[in-house]
Amino acid sequence: MYTGKTLRECLKDAAAQGTAIGHFNISNLEALHGIYQAARKADVPVIIGVSEGEEAFVGLEEAVALVSTLRNRDQYPIFLNADHHGSFESVKRCIDAGFDAVIIDAAKLPFDENAALTLQCVEYARAVTAQTGRDILVEAELGYIGSGSNIKDKIPDGAGVKTDPEEAKKFVTETGVDLLAPSIGSIHGIIKSGKPHIDAELTKHISGMTGVPLVLHGGSGLRDEDFTNAIRAGVRIVHINSEIRLAYRDALKVALEAHPDEIAPAKLLQPAVDAIAEVVYQRLMLFTNKA
Ligand code: G3H
Ligand code: ZN
Repeated sequence: MYTGKTLRECLKDAAAQGTAIGHFNISNLEALHGIYQAARKADVPVIIGVSEGEEAFVGLEEAVALVSTLRNRDQYPIFLNADHHGSFESVKRCIDAGFDAVIIDAAKLPFDENAALTLQCVEYARAVTAQTGRDILVEAELGYIGSGSNIKDKIPDGAGVKTDPEEAKKFVTETGVDLLAPSIGSIHGIIKSGKPHIDAELTKHISGMTGVPLVLHGGSGLRDEDFTNAIRAGVRIVHINSEIRLAYRDALKVALEAHPDEIAPAKLLQPAVDAIAEVVYQRLMLFTNKA
C-alpha cells in the first residue's frame, strides 16, 4: 500500500513552490511507461489521465491496476484521473473503481445545470471519502475550451469564450469543487493556425476569487512563456495529450519505415516510448521551474 503524499498534498506543495503538476493522457502501456520514466527522471509527482474514450480502450479496472501497481511498488506519487467525463454515472464508475480524481465535464451546459451536476459528483466523492478514507478530488469546467486531442486547422466555433471571475467564484461556492478548469485562452488540441496566448491577468483574478487550484487544459502547442505565466498566476495542474499522441505516431512511423521486416512490438514500439518520455520530461522540467 502507498503511504506517501496524496494528490491534494502534492497540490499544496506545488502551490507553496509556485509549480504545477503535469497531467498526461494514456491510451496504452507505451504511453504509461514513457510518462512514468520521465516523471521519475524529473523526480516529480505526475497524474495519468484517461478520457472516456481512452478509458474504454485501456479498460477501467486495468487503468486503476496499472497506476496503483506502480505507485505501491515504488512508493511513488503517480495518480489517476478520469479526464473529461460527461455524466454522473461515468464519474461514479471511476470513483468506485479507485480513481484519485475525476473531472465532470459539463461546460457546455448552462451554468445552473453545470453547477447541479458538479455538486452531485462532489457529494458522491465526499460520501466515498467519508466511508473509505480515500481523498478523491473533483474538478469541473467553466467556459468552453473545445474538445478532442487532435490536429485542427483552426479554433472551433464557440470555443475560447473566457470564464468570468465572478461566475467562477459563484460556481466554486455553490459546488464545493476541489479544482477548477476555467477558459483562460487555451483550446484542446494542436491548432495549425496557432493558439492564443494564455490570459495571465484573468487567471490570477480567477485564482484569487475562487481560492482553488486551477487546471490548464489544452496544453499542447502552447509557448513556454504561456505555461510559466499561467503557473505564476495560480495554475497547479497542466494537461498535455496531443503532443504525446503526435510523438507516439511519428516515432512509430519512422520505426515501421526503417525496419520493414521487424515484427516484434517491443522493438518497434521502444522508440515511441522514448519519444513520449522526452516530450513529457521537457514539459515537467518547465512546469517545475527546472528548465
Ligand atoms: O484533458 C486533456 C487536455 O486538456 C489535453 O489538451 O491535447 O491540447 O494537450 P491537448
Ligand atoms: Zn482537457
